[in-house]
Order: sequence, then C-alpha cells, then structure tokens
Amino acid sequence: MEEISKVPAHVSIIMDGNGRWAKQRGKERVYGHAEGVESVRACVEAAAEAGVKYLSLFAFSEENWGRPESEVNTLMELMMKAIADEITSLAKEGIAFRVLGNLSRLSPSLLEAIAAAEKKTAPREGCEPLMTLVIFLSYSGKWDILQAAEKLALEYAGKPQELHDLPVTALDRYLVTAGIPDPDLLIRTSGEMRISNFMLWQTAYTEFLFVDKLWPDFRKEDFREALAEFARRDRRYGKVK
Ligand code: IPE
Ligand code: IPE
Ligand code: MG
Repeated sequence: MEEISKVPAHVSIIMDGNGRWAKQRGKERVYGHAEGVESVRACVEAAAEAGVKYLSLFAFSEENWGRPESEVNTLMELMMKAIADEITSLAKEGIAFRVLGNLSRLSPSLLEAIAAAEKKTAPREGCEPLMTLVIFLSYSGKWDILQAAEKLALEYAGKPQELHDLPVTALDRYLVTAGIPDPDLLIRTSGEMRISNFMLWQTAYTEFLFVDKLWPDFRKEDFREALAEFARRDRRYGKVK
C-alpha cells in the first residue's frame, strides 16, 4: 500500500450509484441501497484507521424527496436500521455521530433515533472523538446557504453597515456545518461528475475525485486509494508557490 503522507482532515462522499448497481443484477433499486450500507461501514473503518477526523456522507438530498414514496420509505427505514445496528460500536470506538440537513422533514421516530444516537456518541467534556461521522440527510447546499443567510440577516437587522462590512466567513457559523472544517477531499462514486446541490459554500477549495465504481462496490481499498490520490494533489488556494 502506498504511504499516505498528507491525510485530509475532512473527507466527504457523495454515495451514488446504488440503483444502477441493483439494476445490473436484475434487482430492485432498494437492494442497492442495502448493499451500500456495507460500503459505509467499510469507509468508516478505513477513515478512522487513516486518521481522518471528519467523514461526511451525502445520504439523502432535498431533491431525493421527489423519488417514489416506496423508495423514500425504504431509505428512511435503512437509516433507522443502520443507526440501531451501528451506534453501540461507534460509541465504543469513540466515533461521534451527527446528522445534518433540513431535519424538519423527517419523521418523529427517526428524529428521536437520531437525537439518541448523537447523545450516545457525543464526546465527553474535554475529550476529542477519534473521528466524527456526519450524515447529510434531507440536505441541499442552496437550502443551507439560504437558512444561514436568514439567520445572519436577523442578527444584523437594523444594522446595515455592520452587515455590509462582514467578512465572507461570517456565514460559516450559521451553516449546518458550523464548527466542522470545510472538506479537504470530496469523492463522488458512479462516474457522475456533478455536485448535485451538495455542500456548495463549503467546497470552495475542496479537492474533487470522481470515481467510476458504483457506491456498493466502493470499499476499504478504494477509500485508501482516494487518500493516496489526495496526497498527490497540490493545493494552491489561488496563490503562487
Ligand atoms: C445513491 O444512489 C443513493 C441516494 C441518492 C439516496 P442512487 O439511488 O442515486 O443510485 P443511482 O444513481 O440511481 O444508480
Ligand atoms: C446525489 O445523488 C445525492 C446523494 C447521493 C444523496 P443523486 O443520484 O440524487 O444525484 P443526481 O440526480 O444524479 O444528480
Ligand atoms: Mg444517483
């Protein structure tokens, strides 16, 4: 295995291609979603082993609510099941679990399970988690920017000059990702080369990696290869080296 010299602090993944994976096998799309959970498990392990501090996964977009009701329901049930199955081991390993997005659209039972899981895995006062696993659920980048702008506008209501003088970073603390560093590496599986309304603001200087494998086929070795590719990138942030 190639030595990984520069480990990204935050790796984000657009987990795409579950439906196609199932279709290739003559099965229903939901079969691909279930198999995709295995890839999540593998990548969580690989990320923690490599010393990644934040692993964030795009699990369900605001636009995905427009899919057939049966598929949406299966995805939500899979989320419930994954939380129930994994939370004890995440807590044991010191991995903090967080869910970000427009949560007002989720069912009360799922919200309850999420709150309990976040509480169970929350790091104790003064302790740093080994890693934080962030699941983006009912999330869209434009929604995030709009809800943050609304909060910022309320804070500075009646103070237009102060609002005008704010640095661009002022929005960060109202985004749902407040306190989480911007992603260093964003991986998208399935060969699609688009951002699909994921973290639009936060990916200003993120390194992108598009891989052809479908999400259920993306496992530990693929994650490690992505880290190796990241280590070869030269980040300049618009400057001259
Ligand atoms: C990703 O796989 C999972 C979600 C978006 C929920 P898809 O369901 O988009 O699978 P494809 O892209 O149709 O193959
Ligand atoms: C992006 O995948 C969203 C998630 C992986 C959760 P989609 O399958 O929804 O994106 P499009 O439709 O190909 O852009
Ligand atoms: Mg897709």
